[in-house]
Amino acid sequence: MTLLAVDGLRAYYGQVQALQGISFALEEGTVTALLGANGAGKTTTLRAICNMVRSTGRIEFDGKPLAGISTESVVRLGIAHVPQGRGTFSAMTVEENLQLGAISRKDTKSIGRDIERMYEHFPVLKRRHTQQAGTLSGGEQQMLAVARALMLRPRLMLLDEPSFGLAPLIVRDLFAILRKVNLEEKVAILVVEQNAQLALEIAQKAYVIETGSIVMSGSAKEIATNEDIRKSYLGY
Ligand SMILES: Nc1ncnc2c1ncn2[C@@H]1O[C@H](COP(=O)(O)OP(=O)(O)OP(=O)(O)O)[C@@H](O)[C@H]1O
Ligand SMILES: [Mg+2]
Repeated sequence: MTLLAVDGLRAYYGQVQALQGISFALEEGTVTALLGANGAGKTTTLRAICNMVRSTGRIEFDGKPLAGISTESVVRLGIAHVPQGRGTFSAMTVEENLQLGAISRKDTKSIGRDIERMYEHFPVLKRRHTQQAGTLSGGEQQMLAVARALMLRPRLMLLDEPSFGLAPLIVRDLFAILRKVNLEEKVAILVVEQNAQLALEIAQKAYVIETGSIVMSGSAKEIATNEDIRKSYLGY
C-alpha cells in the first residue's frame, strides 16, 4: 500500500523556487532513497512534507492530504523527521531526549518499554544514558536523533543525511541498525543521502533529484547497477 504520495510538489524560499514539481511515492514499510548533489532540493523535499516551507502540489500520507496542517500535526499523524545536523537537546541527557521524543504520544504507559527497545537497537545509548547529549560523539548523536524520532512510533521516518560527518565504520553500524529498525519496527524510511552507494544498499527504491526535479527513478538495484546513472548523477 502507498503510504506517502507526492504529486507535483513545488517549494519556494521567497521568490526562489527550490522544487520544480516533483512526484514520487513510497510504499508502506519500505526504504526509499532520495539522492542528488548539493543544492538539488533533497532537504527541501523533506521540509515540504513536514510543511516547514511554502509549497504547492499534493502530498498524501496514508490517503490523507497534508496541505495546510501544522508541522506538529504532521508529526502526530506519524511522520518523524530527523533533520540535517541532527538536533538533539544538548543540555539534556540521552534518556531525557528519548522521553521528549515521546512527548506527543498518548499511550504514556509503554514509553519506558520503548526506551528499553531503543537501548536494544542502540546499545551505545544505553551505556551513555545519563550523559548529556551535547557531549556525545557525532555518531552517538546521530543514533540518538534516530532513536528519539522512533520514540514517536512513527509510520514514516524522514532522515536527512544520516551519514554526514561520520567515520565510515560508524556509518556502516548506523545503516545496519536502520535496516533492522525498518524491519522490526515496521517503519518506512525516506532517506536523503549524498552517500548514494550506502543508501542504495538499504533502499528498495530510489529517486535522483537534480536542481529541483526528479531526473531518474527505479529500484535501488537498477540505479546501483546502471553505470551511466552512477557516473552522471551519483559520482562514483
Ligand atoms: N532558507 C533558504 N533560503 C533561500 N534558499 C534556500 C534556503 N534553503 C535552501 N535554499 C535553496 O534551495 C535549493 C535546494 O536546497 P536544499 O537544501 O533542499 O538542497 P539539498 O539537496 O538538501 O543540498 P545538500 O546536499 O547540500 O544538503 C538550493 O538552491 C538552496 O540554495
Ligand atoms: Mg540537504
